[in-house]
Amino acid sequence: MKLCVIPGDGIGREVVPVAIQALQAVLPGLQTVYAEAGWETFLRHGKALPASTLDKARDCGAVFFGAVSSPMQLVEGYRSPIVQLRRELSCHANIRPTLSLPLPACRAGIDLIIVRENTEDLYVGDERSDGEVAIAVKRITREASLRVAKSAFDMARHAGRQRITIIHKANILPRTDGLFRDCAREVARAYPEIIVDEMLVDTAAMRLAQSPESFDMLLAPNLYGDILSDLAAAFGGGLGLAASLNLGREAAIAEPVHGSAPDIAGQGIANPLAAILSAAMLLKVWWQRPDLASQLENAVRATLQAGIATPDVLPAGVGTAQLGQAVIARLQ
Ligand code: NAI
Ligand code: MG
Repeated sequence: MKLCVIPGDGIGREVVPVAIQALQAVLPGLQTVYAEAGWETFLRHGKALPASTLDKARDCGAVFFGAVSSPMQLVEGYRSPIVQLRRELSCHANIRPTLSLPLPACRAGIDLIIVRENTEDLYVGDERSDGEVAIAVKRITREASLRVAKSAFDMARHAGRQRITIIHKANILPRTDGLFRDCAREVARAYPEIIVDEMLVDTAAMRLAQSPESFDMLLAPNLYGDILSDLAAAFGGGLGLAASLNLGREAAIAEPVHGSAPDIAGQGIANPLAAILSAAMLLKVWWQRPDLASQLENAVRATLQAGIATPDVLPAGVGTAQLGQAVIARLQ
């Protein structure tokens, strides 16, 4: 097994080594191939995602991406490397779980997964404006909608999940969101054991805020999935714990949801658990080793139960490396 590791910028470089160490503790035969991407790579080479990085990622199939810094203003020639990488590797589904963990900051009883379409919707970035009227294209295709729905239902079947809630706004957007909803319903017919319902995105936001524990899996177009998954992450202890996996047919990219966190970078206090839990997703979904994924997840849980965490979730917290060691010490 080979893994392309892209630490990136800022705390990406601090949490990734810890996650890789934890991953190799459960998967000793794992080979790693390091590659660069991000803002500092752009400053050095004029490209945020060099061709050599893309080659290594394609060759490995499995990728672990830390985090990168992106400028807040237009910089000629700069394109977000993670957005490019997801597109180049055709990772069509973005999977974001939220799980209650033994932490004061976590709400109890939550175990939900949001599956977000990852390639189209308003994120195609087709915008125009004449200064008076600005228009953005919302593209929804049958192909991408069927593809992401199939991934979600397959995942539900594999994981023994009982219900998928399709998120849309088809009352206002019957052609685009209606197509997404209809494709999901079409795919659902082949999975009679899974209960399917649907919910308007605004209602879903309220229900998530009120009773996140009432959801099992949610299937959403790109934009709604992006927003709802950040809302859900707030119940799971925040960004330091939010894991994700970008899934395609030929590749998967594990990626903590957080960015490069320049406010704490270099201090050795970044929470590595989002990265470790992302590694567990790679084990569970991509390498089909749920047994090893559970080992990592259980060790994270036991560590938190012992009252060991970084300062973002516990006031008298330990450092990144210490937390990583505590997790590895609890692997069994
Ligand atoms: P951010 O996720 O980097 O940080 C937001 C807040 O959460 C900060 O206060 C940070 O200290 C805290 N935080 C995030 N991850 C943490 C962790 N593991 N442990 C402890 N605290 C953590 O988002 P922000 O500040 O909006 O963006 C910073 C940079 O990251 C920007 O350049 C942005 O473009 C980039 N970014 C990159 C992403 C990626 O690579 N996928 C995603 C989001 C932002
Ligand atoms: Mg987001």
